Amino acid sequence: GDPRLEAISEAIRVVPHFPKPGIMFQDITTLLLNPKAFKHTIDIFVDRYRLMDISVVAGVEARGFMFGPPIALAIGAKFVPLRKPRKLPGEVISECYELEYGTDCLEMHIGAVEPGERALIIDDLVATGGTLSAAIRLLERVEAEVVECACVIGLPEVKGKFKLCGKPLYVLVEPRQLEDGLR
Ligand code: PRP
Ligand code: MG
Repeated sequence: GDPRLEAISEAIRVVPHFPKPGIMFQDITTLLLNPKAFKHTIDIFVDRYRLMDISVVAGVEARGFMFGPPIALAIGAKFVPLRKPRKLPGEVISECYELEYGTDCLEMHIGAVEPGERALIIDDLVATGGTLSAAIRLLERVEAEVVECACVIGLPEVKGKFKLCGKPLYVLVEPRQLEDGLR
């Protein structure tokens, strides 16, 4: 395969039991600290999307904000932030999703995306897919065409799930497990 993917995977730090017991947190801040691996990440997305006629890259707060803007700039698309509730000052539409305990929502400014625009949705990681599903619904409510959702990290089994919602999902690497010698 692509040796860049290995470099990307190795740049992601795994933090066991964060933020709570049993969670193997995939820390992408170490990827951002590694300019080579970070550039590989952006390059792979840019190569994939540059000729797909995408006019809007929508990034999911917070970690999608770290990958979306450089991709948008490189492919000549606008960047639209999908924000957590009560952060955007203008008129918004809102879509909520289930968490383990309770719900959360994403909001998008009305008018940021026009009907018929071709959209790419970016986040760092897909787990249950609840967050990306809410993002898809936001874009579809304004009649954008969601071309694809893209994440740096995802479990292989989430891909099937996304097919159900009709939108392709593109993922670079699988979640990292504990390093050898650590447990
Ligand atoms: C994390 C991650 C994804 C989402 C994935 O974000 O960055 O956005 O969870 O989970 P899901 O596929 O089960 O919906 P989180 O809400 O923890 O917040 P952050 O990005 O603001 O750190
Ligand atoms: Mg997030």
